[in-house]
Amino acid sequence: MMRGTGTDGARRRIYGRRRGRKLRAGRRALMDALLPALRVVLPETGPLDPRALFPAATDLWLEIGFGAGEHLAAQAHANPQVAFIGAEFFENGIARLLAVIDRDRLANIRLFTDDARLLLARLPERSLGRAFILFPDPWPKERHKKRRIVAATTLDELARTLRPGAELRLATDDPDYAEWMAAAVAARPAFAELARGDGAWLERPADWPSTRYEQKAVAAGRNPRFFRLARRR
Ligand SMILES: C[S@@+](CC[C@H](N)C(=O)[O-])C[C@H]1O[C@@H](n2cnc3c(N)ncnc32)[C@H](O)[C@@H]1O
Repeated sequence: MMRGTGTDGARRRIYGRRRGRKLRAGRRALMDALLPALRVVLPETGPLDPRALFPAATDLWLEIGFGAGEHLAAQAHANPQVAFIGAEFFENGIARLLAVIDRDRLANIRLFTDDARLLLARLPERSLGRAFILFPDPWPKERHKKRRIVAATTLDELARTLRPGAELRLATDDPDYAEWMAAAVAARPAFAELARGDGAWLERPADWPSTRYEQKAVAAGRNPRFFRLARRR
């Protein structure tokens, strides 16, 4: 467990690693040279103005905990007119995504490299057209469940920052977390399920690229669940 610091001085617990294996020289160089240009820095006080980051974009989509960034990069490719902010604090994942951004010259991604909840709290109301939390850390032990990112406070912030009609996508391969997500969403009238029914939660829509974590889960014989929710009007 580590602590992150918001620019407002608020300190929060981060549950997870910031660093893994030592970065290769090329990735280290990208962290030093490319990341500063792409990093989202919160203002000293008040809300972040996302339009200042991406003046020409038609919409803003947020991915929380992008891991190695496969989904984020694929969405950015498929939706070049949309601006993306990816939030992730695991350095090795950030470096992997930077390599793809650099290789593919992706111009529509910015990175927030701290606790996504610090960013969410500073986004203006109704500023997001879509948000993704894909395969968040499951924290299966009873005493750790309070660490789960899909929780009342995060969903309330997403309800505030997503525009009416905007979509929230969640996924997990942990059956208990799936129940937890379904219950957490059902408890918030701000969200309505877009896909429901027997098989609907098991099928990933075609415009939803898979992630590294999902591929590992499927290879291990687990059944991911996919939730598509709409911010009610
Ligand atoms: C299990 S991994 C899944 C990664 C990716 N979404 C995938 O499906 O492959 C969860 C990721 O969320 C990140 N994470 C956890 N809490 C976070 C937070 N509060 N803000 C930003 N990222 C977070 C972790 O560092 C980790 O990389």
